[in-house]
Amino acid sequence: MTETLAPTPEGISRAVTLLRAGGLVAFPTETVYGLGADARTDHAVAGIFEAKDRPRFNPLIVHVADMEDALQIAVLDPLAERVASAFWPGPLTLVLPLRTASALSPLVTADLPSVALRLPAHPLARDLLRAFGGPVAAPSANPSGRVSPTRAEHVLAGLSGRIAAVVDAGPCEVGVESTILGLTDGAARLLRPGGIPAEVLEECLGHKLEVVSNAARPVAPGQLASHYAPDATLRLRAQAPEPDEFWLGFGAGAAAADLNLSETGDLVEAAANLFHYLREADRRAEGRIAVSPIPESGLGRAINDRLRRAAAPRSSDRN
Ligand code: TXA
Ligand code: MG
Repeated sequence: MTETLAPTPEGISRAVTLLRAGGLVAFPTETVYGLGADARTDHAVAGIFEAKDRPRFNPLIVHVADMEDALQIAVLDPLAERVASAFWPGPLTLVLPLRTASALSPLVTADLPSVALRLPAHPLARDLLRAFGGPVAAPSANPSGRVSPTRAEHVLAGLSGRIAAVVDAGPCEVGVESTILGLTDGAARLLRPGGIPAEVLEECLGHKLEVVSNAARPVAPGQLASHYAPDATLRLRAQAPEPDEFWLGFGAGAAAADLNLSETGDLVEAAANLFHYLREADRRAEGRIAVSPIPESGLGRAINDRLRRAAAPRSSDRN
């Protein structure tokens, strides 16, 4: 039985009890719902991989309540400190050198010498992390390879019965996962487009970002070619649907769409709607979904990245 907890002091206290006992608790962040476990406990972290059916070589993001906790886990050079102070708390994950004395389970980092750290802005996430008082490993709370959850009911649809609890605080505001920035060797690399647009990071860094993308040997899990996959097939950059297609539109030109990510062409609204509408489209479509073109700027980069992976051919051993 998976408990649904209210976003109240009582709900948080129950979530903390479950986490301390090594249980799995899904909770909202401003990007998507995460599946949390005590990042210092091997069996708790192993439970995440089991519940999601996630390949073990795919390391997890560690969530912390504040900078002090971040510094116990990772080394932040002056560049990392500058980026962190500009964007934390927020939808940005930094891949940083792991402190050798950190208390993290090696399962979290898949034995890499680096760690992905995030300080989320969602008030419930922050309250939970503070009350727990330690690092929480949390990938998105969906079965591996499937669409990420932006509502508690999405979490339950995929993981009910496999996790101890979900804290329900309503829909996530940003709607796509955090941007992942690699900062392990003094240079910044974009490992995954996400909730902070690359242009905004580039402005802070003062230079263009090198995008690292290698689907054959993924650096970040979202880089696996097929990911975020609905059951239906997706046809991208469709100006109009074919007769048997469900139309997932964007902008005023898609007034006749079955669902419109944003009628006004607002990328922030489209990102917030993306995963919920993909699920809806999957439920209502008869196997085929046509998606309107989305501009490749701002949050459009993260949206297109997720759509491309959702449309990618599936291998039978998808992860
Ligand atoms: O918004 C988000 O980032 C959400 C919320 C829950 O925080 N989390 C999330 O986690 O999207 P997940 O596991 O679905 O994606 C984490 C990504 C994976 O692609 C993984 O490969 C990458 O982070 N990652 C983790 N540790 C890494 C490391 N040391 N080096 C490179 N990539 C790493
Ligand atoms: Mg994920």
